Amino acid sequence: MSILIGYLLGSISFSFLAGKLLKGIDIRKHGSGNAGATNTLRVLGVGPGVTVLLLDAIKGVIAVLLGIWIGDGSALLLVLCGVAAIAGHNWPVYFGFRGGKGIATTIGVMLTLAPLPALYAGIVCILAIVVTRYVSLGSLLFTAILPILVWIMHFPIEIFYFSLLVFVFAWIRHRSNIVRLLKGQENKIGSKTKSG
Ligand code: G3P
Repeated sequence: MSILIGYLLGSISFSFLAGKLLKGIDIRKHGSGNAGATNTLRVLGVGPGVTVLLLDAIKGVIAVLLGIWIGDGSALLLVLCGVAAIAGHNWPVYFGFRGGKGIATTIGVMLTLAPLPALYAGIVCILAIVVTRYVSLGSLLFTAILPILVWIMHFPIEIFYFSLLVFVFAWIRHRSNIVRLLKGQENKIGSKTKSG
């Protein structure tokens, strides 16, 4: 039950809702075309972007807590609730299964499951974004570093496998960003946008 609710919660696309409520647009037809916080920042501005980032992260936190509140609280269940929330964010049932890339929700899930690895990986992510102005590079680094830190810091094996899965999810969802990064054509924060 908590896994299903986690998926339904993850499926609430705050960037889509922000686009509709603030400008009457489908965010997936603007900017990079991604239903996420970065594209909300790009298309709607800093306030909506930060708000969507927080809300998308909070749904990840709540999804994991559901595994404690209405489940048995086992590491496996918490991880499955986290997977469900990220899957909901990426493939939302309410919005034609076209959602985001899962990073903000992953941040919320990982801060709840493994706070220190999430914090350290988050610092690297922020530094990468500040230096390069590529949010996607920060996101990719964040998910690549997580499994290493989770392993080194001896978190339960379920959380390690989860962080590996998150890494695969995120890199597949960012394949158009990776191609643009390799070509030196990725969107920088504050610059003209390419979609995909
Ligand atoms: O979390 C999404 C971010 O890494 C990239 O977003 O809109 O530039 O594809 P976007």
